[in-house]
Amino acid sequence: MIEQSLAPVENLAFVSALRNSTFMYPLVNAGHILGVSMLVGGIVPLDLRLLGLWRSYPVMVFVDVLRITSVIGLGLAVVCGALLFATAAVDYAGSPLFQAKILLVLLGVLNALILGRVLKHEDIRSLPMKARMPSSVRVRAGMSLVGWISVLILGRLLGYF
Ligand code: HEM
Repeated sequence: MIEQSLAPVENLAFVSALRNSTFMYPLVNAGHILGVSMLVGGIVPLDLRLLGLWRSYPVMVFVDVLRITSVIGLGLAVVCGALLFATAAVDYAGSPLFQAKILLVLLGVLNALILGRVLKHEDIRSLPMKARMPSSVRVRAGMSLVGWISVLILGRLLGYF
C-alpha cells in the first residue's frame, strides 16, 4: 500500500514532537485556519466581483489586492496543512475525503492560473468601469467559488470521518 510508505514521515522527530505537543499542534492548526480564512475571505469577494457584483467599484482594486492576500493565505494553508498531514500521514493519505480535498486544491490552483491568463488576455484593465466581464472570466470565477468552498467543507468534514 502506498499509504504505508508514509509511515516514516510520522516518525520524524519534529513530527512526533508536534503530534505530542500541547501548544504547537493547536498553533499550527490555527495557522492553517488563518491561511484558509485569508484564502477564502479574499477569493469570495474577488470571484463575486468578476461574476458581476459591485460593478460601481473598479475591478482592478479587487484583482490587485485580493489576489495577493489569497495567495499568501494559500501558502500559509499549504505549509500548516502539510504539517498537520505529517502527524497522521498514513491515515490521511488513505482517506477518500483527504484525497478529494487535495485533488480540488490542485484543480483550484490550476483554475486560478488559467483565470490569471484569461484576465490578461481579455485585457480587463481597459474595460469600461461597469462592463460585464466576458463569459470566459465568469465561468472561471464561478468554478473558483464552488471549488474553494468545497475544499473548505471537505477540510472540515475530515475531522468527523
Ligand atoms: C495542500 C494543502 C492542504 C493540506 C495538506 C491540508 C491538510 C489538512 C489537515 C491534515 C487537516 C486536519 C484535519 C483533521 O481535523 O483531522 C486540515 C483541516 C482543515 N483544512 Fe486543510 N489542508 C490543505 C489546504 C486547505 C485549504 C486550501 C483549505 C480551504 C480552502 C482547507 C480547509 C481546511 C479546514 C476548514 C480544516 C478544518 C480545520 C478545523 O476545523 O480545525 N485546507 N487540513
